[in-house]
Amino acid sequence: MIQKGLKGIVAAETLISHIDGENGRLFYRGYEIREITKGFSFEETAYLLWFGHLPDEEQLSALKDELKSNRELPEYVKVAIDQLPPAMDLMSVIRTAISAEGGQLDYGWKPSVSQAIRLTALVPTIIAYRKRFLEGQSFFPPRSDLDFVGNYLYMLNGKVPITAHIEALEIYMILTLEHGMNASTFSARVTASTESDLVSAITSAVGTMKGPLHGGAPSGVIELLDEIAMVGDAEKVIREKVLRGEKLMGFGHRVYKTHDPRAVALKAKLMELVGENEWLDLAMTVENTAVKLLAELKPGRLLYTNVEFYAAAIMKAINMDAKLFTPTFTASRMVGWTAHVLEQAENNTIYRPQSKYIGIHNKS
Ligand code: ACO
Repeated sequence: MIQKGLKGIVAAETLISHIDGENGRLFYRGYEIREITKGFSFEETAYLLWFGHLPDEEQLSALKDELKSNRELPEYVKVAIDQLPPAMDLMSVIRTAISAEGGQLDYGWKPSVSQAIRLTALVPTIIAYRKRFLEGQSFFPPRSDLDFVGNYLYMLNGKVPITAHIEALEIYMILTLEHGMNASTFSARVTASTESDLVSAITSAVGTMKGPLHGGAPSGVIELLDEIAMVGDAEKVIREKVLRGEKLMGFGHRVYKTHDPRAVALKAKLMELVGENEWLDLAMTVENTAVKLLAELKPGRLLYTNVEFYAAAIMKAINMDAKLFTPTFTASRMVGWTAHVLEQAENNTIYRPQSKYIGIHNKS
């Protein structure tokens, strides 16, 4: 029997995260995500995912130092980025820059946590460096007095961000650090299962993340909301799209058959951050209308907002350019990908499913 899209197939055992899709719950290393977003920082959560336990003060400080000391791009990576055509999309730039980073340093088998930390530290710098380069502006070098998320926002804008913006982005980044065997993580694990290096596994993952059905969805959410704002009739736009067989970006999930807990947490943060706001009102109207219409037009499919729907709204609230949404998702998901590659390497079997030939036999 063929399981299209490998739906429902369990491909590996993992200790990293658990998704309870029926009840809309997500756990990192046994800690429920809503508890994590209440009290932990990006770095503490990354530590938890990489090492399997929460850090003490000394371990946390050592991780922060290691991330900071790996933020600078090597000259050859900068040169590689500078050479790329200006029209190249940012996800392809990240994929290429990571590949270039792997060109000179030793990323051979087996992958290590220090390689994982280095690659994770570099991605925000790659994004900011390319953004400033395209704007024809000089790059704002990383600041060692700022932690991961604050420094990322600083490198993008050249201003020390306000606490509310750091908090909003940090919640988003924590919520998207890891999510089981999603398409990009699977991609990373497949590449690692051949005993290829961490850089190759991560470039596979970045390429997979780029697609609109996975990490590319937030920009699609903005387009959907803009179109609805222009037409002024959410029901009409949504109904027509669904009847045409289009997918509504930011809705539906392979695993969650109820509310995505990440969308719930982001929505709550957004309400706290912006309160009464025209744009948030529009997002909530679209959510309510779409959920109602999807229940009518796609009965029994259980379609609700996913993390990307309110991610787009959070990014909009902190004035982040839509082009940076998927790259920012990538910057956080680096932690999950690398944790999975490390886990794969510890107990490796090459992934090699089969296909069923349905063409003609004995052509001649
Ligand atoms: N809008 C309209 N209909 C939808 C949507 C949607 N967003 N999502 C699923 N459906 C419908 C499908 O058309 C299908 O209907 P059918 O049975 O009549 O053919 C049914 O619901 C089941 O859909 P599948 O595509 O089989 O569900 P699957 O689990 O394969 O897909 C996915 C999940 C890819 C997320 C899908 O819901 C989708 O494309 N959503 C829009 C893109 C998006 O928001 N992606 C971000 C996901 S979160 C993340 O990657 C971080």
